[in-house]
Amino acid sequence: MTDKLIIFDTTLRDGEQSPGASMTRDEKLRIARQLERLKVDVIEAGFAASSNGDFEAVQTIAKAIKDSTICSLSRANDRDISRAAEALKGANNARIHTFIATSALHMEKKLRMSPDQVLEQAKQSVRFARNLVSEIEFSPEDGYRSDMDFLCRVIETVITEGATTINVPDTVGYAVPELYGNFIKTLRERVPNSDKAIWSVHCHNDLGMAVANSLAGVKIGGARQVECTINGLGERAGNCSLEEIVMAVKTRKDYFKLELGIDTRQIVAASRMVSQTTGFVVQPNKAVVGANAFAHASGIHQDGVLKARDTYEIMRAEDVGWSANKIVLGKLSGRNAFKQRLQDLGVEMQSESEINTAFAKFKELADRKSEIFDEDILALLSEESVLNDNEQFAFVSLSQHSETGERPQAVVVFTVAGQEVRGESDGNGPVDASLKAIESHVKSGAEMVLYSVNAISGSTESQGEVTVRLQNSGRVVNGVGADPDIVVASAKAYLAALNKLQSKADRVAAQG
Ligand code: KIV
Ligand code: ZN
Repeated sequence: MTDKLIIFDTTLRDGEQSPGASMTRDEKLRIARQLERLKVDVIEAGFAASSNGDFEAVQTIAKAIKDSTICSLSRANDRDISRAAEALKGANNARIHTFIATSALHMEKKLRMSPDQVLEQAKQSVRFARNLVSEIEFSPEDGYRSDMDFLCRVIETVITEGATTINVPDTVGYAVPELYGNFIKTLRERVPNSDKAIWSVHCHNDLGMAVANSLAGVKIGGARQVECTINGLGERAGNCSLEEIVMAVKTRKDYFKLELGIDTRQIVAASRMVSQTTGFVVQPNKAVVGANAFAHASGIHQDGVLKARDTYEIMRAEDVGWSANKIVLGKLSGRNAFKQRLQDLGVEMQSESEINTAFAKFKELADRKSEIFDEDILALLSEESVLNDNEQFAFVSLSQHSETGERPQAVVVFTVAGQEVRGESDGNGPVDASLKAIESHVKSGAEMVLYSVNAISGSTESQGEVTVRLQNSGRVVNGVGADPDIVVASAKAYLAALNKLQSKADRVAAQG
């Protein structure tokens, strides 16, 4: 057993399964580069067999990322495993993560398979995978609710077949810390060849205990890999949050006595990037990465911190990357300074024309806003249309009129497949009128299930970042738009969501 804790990030796979959090290949690559800067040990880049888009994302990330191991999820069948292996071909270090459900409930109701059939399929899958890559992770899905004797048999079998990591998911977030920790401990004690694999924990947050359960799996159970996501992104209430688990293990090294490879100064940048890309806003009081995480409002606390920092602070804000929030560029900044800043932020631009388009957007913004922060640049780039000329819908201009006692009116000009069109409407407020103006032309029929506005850098001078979540024919997508004018930001977010709705939905559900 090593005393290093392996950090396995699954933001791009389990995180992305969260309704509305789907990301494009380029967005995933940008996040993967940030995860590499964060020095994450393993990046689960996607589920290659689930869609062509996911296959391409895993393939692109496998070729681009050199320092982290790249992993693809795969159901326990030869086709999925072959697809994963193919997508991972360019990787320096590749891992296949194969899974099959082992709880009685899942086997009977979902898979309609007997325990013996599941055992055989797990065995054959790992046997097949071991000839394709050197690292094989096996997960008994809904493991925590599985029968202990059966689970021991399955795990012993897959280790014999060559599984190098055994991950025990609490798929539905049902565990409590002590019981989950003891569950892992018992498994490790009872599986005869348990010392031949690294044990991993994967906890969902339905009862708000994903981080606590994961820590118990490490401390009581002896797991040496934690599966987690940036900002705890993930289906339903999300997954174990990377920033919380990492800072808990680092801050309480006296207790956990474990080493980490993570560069914690990259945490806040990763958090912002994921939030801006997916439109999932981070709550202000979120541990480590929330806007208030290091803010001392009460006079007693402020006084204490000024006298001796550690009176109220157990971590230093700069150790998780908060001090990186500096003015970086302004109106007079040139193309080279902009290009350098993009590189520092880990943004890859494929061509000079992409840089020119992004630079033009930056100049437009700098004309309206004197101080441009890193967040502004990332927000600007998270607008799909900046990097992708092939989008169906793109914002051009907007005018609206609102006055007390009168019904607001809006006119929005945008392009549809390159052709300029004009939508006009009234509405309850200027935002409502603008989105109705777009809809009057597009007629998507999509239902809006979320609308939120956030000030990117905290003041009324900052850009407003708007998230719009649309639902149509069972698909849920998020669109993000940013602009100093929140009505314009709203229109951009709405068009971004419409673009996502347009893209093909050929994905297979991971736990389907
Ligand atoms: O939660 C879960 O069970 C999973 C598996 C696919 C590992 O995400
Ligand atoms: Zn999961």
